[in-house]
Amino acid sequence: MDVMLKNKNIIITGAASGIGRASSKLAADFGAQVLCVDLSDAVHDTAAQINESGGRAISLQADVSDEAAVKGYVDTCICEFGRIDGIYANAGIGGGGKPMLELTVEDWQRTLTVNTVSVFLAVKHTVPHFTQQGFGSILCTASVAALRANAGGVDYSASKAGVVSIVQTVAYQLYGTGVRINAICPGLIETGMTKPIFDRARGKGSDDRIGQINPTKRYGQPQEIGQMACFLLSDRASYVNGQAVPVDGGLSASHPWVFPKV
Ligand SMILES: NC(=O)c1ccc[n+]([C@@H]2O[C@H](COP(=O)([O-])OP(=O)(O)OC[C@H]3O[C@@H](n4cnc5c(N)ncnc54)[C@H](O)[C@@H]3O)[C@@H](O)[C@H]2O)c1
Repeated sequence: MDVMLKNKNIIITGAASGIGRASSKLAADFGAQVLCVDLSDAVHDTAAQINESGGRAISLQADVSDEAAVKGYVDTCICEFGRIDGIYANAGIGGGGKPMLELTVEDWQRTLTVNTVSVFLAVKHTVPHFTQQGFGSILCTASVAALRANAGGVDYSASKAGVVSIVQTVAYQLYGTGVRINAICPGLIETGMTKPIFDRARGKGSDDRIGQINPTKRYGQPQEIGQMACFLLSDRASYVNGQAVPVDGGLSASHPWVFPKV
């Protein structure tokens, strides 16, 4: 087995489900010790599954949008593992996808707090450790919704565009420190967040149409994001910095187009 994350201590948020759980398992397979963080108590199952299969993980229930809780998960990583090498700030919410005119200020505040402020807090509380040691990899989950329209509500899309902006801005604020920061922009991935879309389509018998508008002609699996996450967290991505990397089957590569009849 490839051990590109051997001796790396990695924090992964949103680790109870979907992309976060798949990335945690893969990171452990690639040799990392993983601190799995999530609001949901299912995060303990993720760590248990990793430990049962011979990896090393610990788990912590925490709200990634709460500053004291963020400081708490960073301190836990240092206490338990002795050092942090990387963080994947992945936890997020879909925001409910309400039509624009139905969105309230409270909806906006919740989506921005969970999806965007949480990323800022992850940066704020890991950077002092990373700059002191002279290395570290920060990774965030944005979305194709950060790049183009039609992949989420206006609050969700703006919250993810904010994540891309944090990545670009912070990369330069970390100029010359040896610390890298990047984001992944997933396309449509089958996870807890998108379950309603899949359930609805399966209920209508139209699930064969999901993901057909990208040139890879299918939706993605959480492990396909996890593979990119582990690469970007590893030293193999040593010259990748300040980037928002789409992993979307090619969806964001196109101008508007007409679905082919072939
Ligand atoms: N699934 C997709 O198609 C897709 C596409 C683009 C981006 N994303 C992004 O991927 C990330 C992971 O989502 P997913 O698709 O795996 O969904 P998911 O619902 O399966 O997992 C998200 C996890 O985040 C956790 N979480 C939510 N709010 C939290 C909080 N305040 N504190 C701690 N944990 C919290 C949830 O409990 C859940 O376990 C999100 O940032 C999401 O916006 C997903």
